[in-house]
Amino acid sequence: MRGAVSINLNIPIYNALMKYSNRSPVSFHMPGHKEGKDSNIPNANELYLMDVTEIPGLDNLHQPEGIIKEAQELAAKAFGADQTFFLVNGSTCGIQAAIMSLCKKGDRLIVGRDCHRAAVSGMMLAGAEPVYIKPEYEDNFKISSVLKISDIEKALMENQDAAGVYITRPNYYGICSDIKEICRLVHSYGKVLIVDEAHGAHLKFSDKLPCSALEHGSDICIQSAHKTLPALTPGAYLHVKGSKVDVEKIRYNLDILQTSSPPYLVMAFLDISRAVMEKDGEQIIEWLLEDIKKFHKNIDDNTHFNVLSKKKLNIGETDGTRLVINTKNYGLSAFKIENILRNKYNIQVEMSDLYNIVCITTGANKGEDLKKLEDAFCDIDMNFKNSPPLADICIEKMDIPEQKVQLDQLMHKSFKRMKLTSANGMISRGMITPYPPGVPVVCPGEVITEGAIEYINDILKFGGNVNGVYDGLEVQVLTSL
Ligand SMILES: Cc1ncc(COP(=O)(O)O)c(C=O)c1O
Repeated sequence: MRGAVSINLNIPIYNALMKYSNRSPVSFHMPGHKEGKDSNIPNANELYLMDVTEIPGLDNLHQPEGIIKEAQELAAKAFGADQTFFLVNGSTCGIQAAIMSLCKKGDRLIVGRDCHRAAVSGMMLAGAEPVYIKPEYEDNFKISSVLKISDIEKALMENQDAAGVYITRPNYYGICSDIKEICRLVHSYGKVLIVDEAHGAHLKFSDKLPCSALEHGSDICIQSAHKTLPALTPGAYLHVKGSKVDVEKIRYNLDILQTSSPPYLVMAFLDISRAVMEKDGEQIIEWLLEDIKKFHKNIDDNTHFNVLSKKKLNIGETDGTRLVINTKNYGLSAFKIENILRNKYNIQVEMSDLYNIVCITTGANKGEDLKKLEDAFCDIDMNFKNSPPLADICIEKMDIPEQKVQLDQLMHKSFKRMKLTSANGMISRGMITPYPPGVPVVCPGEVITEGAIEYINDILKFGGNVNGVYDGLEVQVLTSL
């Protein structure tokens, strides 16, 4: 039994964490060290020793001149950036700082609609006005896929005064838009490209994976080290490349957004993750991809589950370390199958949507983890293979709702809560976001449509979580403009 604190104390978070860790689940979720199973990271006894503050000799994240400066420079070199900032508040604060640095109040930003909520909050803080582009839709898996070059070009032509372009690559499903073409296009309009590469901090270290955005010259690239490297939550990097970005503004905004008590533990692991990947990343990913290849083959040969791969995509590339298993053929939502995996097989995946289970695999996952996952899916196949497939519900048909009130106007507007089912035509105050993946269906200031209501209701009905929908299925709507 792990845990040294008496479970008789009223400490619900600690108790729940110990209960979870005592189950020793097979982990396909973040953080990438998988409960410390990565062999390259410090052992548990050392962790307390690293939890210190800015005492002499240990530098200062907000004005680095010593070890933090050195570690950030080493990271810039390893990831191919001109400058790297350590983020101790996740990619979230890096995305917000990037947008605040690029856009002033009223500036337009061209944004892939499959953005994380952090991009929306970044635009709220900056006072930027989004011009959304809808990603393509992968009908077999019922997920959004890539941003089409022609759609980005159209948005650039129609919004020549836009401050820049913001894309998410890879998306949560590991699907990658054509970064080389996007960089070329955005730069041909003289604009700045920000890439949310929260799910792609590992890409740089293997030529068997899609290349990282920095390799093709994205101006700003933000990566959650804690998702795919052996870093601690919420360690992340913000990289800058080229001369289009005002680095001093980034520094200024990070100063505002990041805590004044930066955790050394998180920073040390950002440094360790960089060093581990720089030295052994290629081999680590090679071994992982070999295990994943066996998983793909055995699931394809022995079950009716459909595992996403580049071959099965209409357009785009995939990050081969990300497992997306489509469960539509089994008559059960992926939310239910996620529960079965947890309760019957002691496997915790990263997330599910209606039709897909998503697993994050990293160097800390061993071959036996993938074998357990494979055995569980084979077993589930035996039990449910004769069920009729789940009905089609898809977000594809939903247009991007009209933005009636700009993001920076919302904070002080009066509002009320009302039933989601009666909110057709009302203006949303909040971000209504199935979580994970955290991609908003309705953004603040947008009109709630019948299609959105139907889609959100379906997600809830099948057991998904939706942030922005409160007890009794209520949402926050504006009461005046
Ligand atoms: C695409 C994407 N961007 C940004 C974020 C925010 O990252 P972080 O948790 O490091 O703040 C997430 C979180 O899941 C994400 O999925």
